[in-house]
Amino acid sequence: MTGTRAFPAGFRWGTASSSHQTEGNNQNNQWWRFEQQPGAIAFGQRSGIACNWWANVEADFDQMAQLGLNAHRLSLEWSRIEPRPGEFDEVALDRYRAMLTALHERGIQPWLALHHFTNPLWLEEMGGWENPAIVEQFTTYTEKVVQHVGDLCGHWLTINEPLVYLGQGWLRGVWPPHHPNLLLALRVYRHLLYAHAGAYHAIHNAQPDAQVSVAKAMRHFDPARPRHLGDQWAARLRRYLFEDLWFSATLDGRLLPPLGIGQVDPQLANTLDFIGINYYARYQVTFTPNPARLFGCEGYTLGRELSDSSSRGPYSQFDPDGLGIICRRLQPYGKPIYITEHGLPDQDDDQRPRWLVAQLTELHRLIRDGADIRGYFHWTLVDNFEWNDGWTMHFGLIDMDPITQIRTPRHSATLYSRIAHANALPDNLLARYGMGSSGEK
Ligand code: FCB
Repeated sequence: MTGTRAFPAGFRWGTASSSHQTEGNNQNNQWWRFEQQPGAIAFGQRSGIACNWWANVEADFDQMAQLGLNAHRLSLEWSRIEPRPGEFDEVALDRYRAMLTALHERGIQPWLALHHFTNPLWLEEMGGWENPAIVEQFTTYTEKVVQHVGDLCGHWLTINEPLVYLGQGWLRGVWPPHHPNLLLALRVYRHLLYAHAGAYHAIHNAQPDAQVSVAKAMRHFDPARPRHLGDQWAARLRRYLFEDLWFSATLDGRLLPPLGIGQVDPQLANTLDFIGINYYARYQVTFTPNPARLFGCEGYTLGRELSDSSSRGPYSQFDPDGLGIICRRLQPYGKPIYITEHGLPDQDDDQRPRWLVAQLTELHRLIRDGADIRGYFHWTLVDNFEWNDGWTMHFGLIDMDPITQIRTPRHSATLYSRIAHANALPDNLLARYGMGSSGEK
């Protein structure tokens, strides 16, 4: 294609979402229970009916089709599928079948995540991810799901952001079960690995051709003071714990300290068919002598443009080359790469178009230089329930009022649609966002 930067044929342009953030009335999981506590969520907000997707997701699937999207990533709500231990709800499973069929009818390839931060209450009460029983429980749930909807889905993410889930629950302690404890965190780390592996094998036993991975949150950490040994070490420690340990276990089966002594477990080895990257943030790390904080405080680079803020401060900093740095770092693993989430809270949409074009330009450059990047899933289609931040963070291409449920597309929706329809970054669009003409960079 001339005058544009084309993406490879078959590139996936999608959006990503999760069950609890969109379906509404997920009353049987630990997040719903947490939301009822005063002060738990910003301004006392709750997920409520969320985006009403359980009742009517089809209208938003129509929107995706109109935007020209050819993929969508959603998650299954375990608490709906297995409301009591060992009891599977066929009506809920059929509802998911209907959703997957509706996506296919619109030419949208479904991708399914089996776990996106929420657990059935019964599981939480049995100790959840701290109890080694989780590995078998998660595997059994996966088997049931694959039996019921597997014919409609070939792309799977076992666990969304396993180490964010771990960090929020067992390091920072700000999400249920609120157990900040390093020893428990290590135990949960192992359970996440083995539950992922159990689900990986369960899917492949039923569907040998399935593509299975996790959506791995990736962050880039720079030492705040580049020559400061403590800052360098704290930044490196993060990468070791959140990347090296995870990829060594899931690619080579090797459990590095403190998860193991370097022994290889074949059950874990080769359990990523591709690498799924969720990327939002790059941080600077300053050393602090506190093991509970992993010896560092995280902040942003002075002078960088910052995004909308939650109660804890700006959500992210403008980082045009961040996604590229992460992809380059993961390329040597030799697996296809999908960006399984990427987005920005920007209620008035004055930053998202520029940020999006900058990051996609970087992705295009990498692909042109030979990287095997096969798809991009924007977080998210419509504003949804953003965990502790409730309804205050607006990640949607489409604005949505949770009370009236009225949807209003942002300019970003039009922009993303142009790119998806063209499967390219048109030159005039690049010029408008100051990214130069094709071949220039
Ligand atoms: C990711 C989560 C997703 C959403 C976005 C903004 O870390 O996977 O549920 O909260 O951040």
